[in-house]
Amino acid sequence: MTIKFKGQGVVVLGGQWGDEGKGRIVDSLAEQCDVIVRFQGGNNAGHSLHIGDKSIVLHLIPCGIMRPEKVCIIGNGVVIDPEVLQVEIGKLASLGVMCQANNLKISRHAHIIFPYHRLIDQDREAQSDGRIGTTKRGIGPCYEDKIARFGIMAQDLRSEDIMRTKLTTVLANRPELSKQSIHELIDFGLRSGKHLEPFLCDVGDVLQDLLKQGKRVLFEGAQGSLLDVDHGTYPFVTSSNCVAAQAAIGSGIGPQWLSDIFMVTKAYTTRVGGGPFFTEADEETQTKIRHVGQEFGATTGRARRCGWLDLEALRYAARLNGARGLIVTKADVLVGVGPIKVGVGYKDQGARKLSFTEAMYQNLQNDPFEVDYVELPELSAMPDTIRGMRDLPKTLQDLFSIMEKVLGIPILLVSYGPKRGQEFIVAQ
Ligand code: IMP
Ligand code: MG
Repeated sequence: MTIKFKGQGVVVLGGQWGDEGKGRIVDSLAEQCDVIVRFQGGNNAGHSLHIGDKSIVLHLIPCGIMRPEKVCIIGNGVVIDPEVLQVEIGKLASLGVMCQANNLKISRHAHIIFPYHRLIDQDREAQSDGRIGTTKRGIGPCYEDKIARFGIMAQDLRSEDIMRTKLTTVLANRPELSKQSIHELIDFGLRSGKHLEPFLCDVGDVLQDLLKQGKRVLFEGAQGSLLDVDHGTYPFVTSSNCVAAQAAIGSGIGPQWLSDIFMVTKAYTTRVGGGPFFTEADEETQTKIRHVGQEFGATTGRARRCGWLDLEALRYAARLNGARGLIVTKADVLVGVGPIKVGVGYKDQGARKLSFTEAMYQNLQNDPFEVDYVELPELSAMPDTIRGMRDLPKTLQDLFSIMEKVLGIPILLVSYGPKRGQEFIVAQ
């Protein structure tokens, strides 16, 4: 499978609430790229990969690491839990994949998740009865410290003095941490620093050099556009920006390098955790989709909420990202779920059309509105091999043509199974 890229900066990100199957797509496209970069989020992400008889879930290290000749980069926009990083490096080693300074590079400016970030996240979830439904990995509290200007960056782990100064401010600003011992925290930092040290560098500088040498860079998004802290279904969002522009900010290069922005969507929608989900299906349909699509969180194991495609939400996400094409995943999951619905817009009680942001606002105010659906006949089976749109059952052809019409951008790639090879290119 080869895609004709327009330039050297390829961005692959989710157009929904995460879990669009980006890991699998990144893994396919990585073959044609030299460098793979994570630019936001942390180990709240979970990318499941199935390669031959090996399967692995990566939370932090870019999935490109599975290909020996690639350089993998964790950018400044990522928050790093050093314990998770170590576990991942160990798991990869047990599969014969060694992480070294030449194939894994970590930004000196990436912020570090300390154990207390996790505790704060967990406590808040417990106190609010899981209202947001975070992954409890400490992601939000770590970004809070970053924005508050007392976060600890990877390079700070070298210096006891810098850590002491910052941690003193952290403890003074977070009364809930009164029982934490600064000595233990510094000790944790120094130990973590030793493991991180071989990988640390100025990632933007490294990337700029590689780009100037003509290398192609794949920016691997985590979470999804509707979980973006600025543009998503706030406050039911993650604490980072997940849209395409963040690929530049979170890795330290200029946005002019971002030439090919691809937005990934499932042929339906899922969401984990709380918050609005306008096309959520009835219980019976949800159970079917969840079962066939194995819709359980790769990070937390939670059952995902399932529903139909929401094209107004996707149209909004396509605008935010400036996506030039769509990648549709898990088309096969719709087999046997009954008549297929696709949300094509919202209207209020006076039949006025609502945009996604208007719908979000009405939802927050408990002001009801309706989703307009188009219904398509049941998908009864999928052919074993599919080389192009013409091999697809009519229902999927119709679904995809509605998507392209409403979104105004082409579908470039469709995947119809978890294995390498179960995908086809539609257009270039
Ligand atoms: P946090 O990122 O752990 O703070 O969680 C905030 C919200 O984002 C919750 O609704 C999570 O379920 C959701 N979330 C975070 N990471 C992912 C992901 O990788 N896939 C899907 N949902 C996610
Ligand atoms: Mg995931």
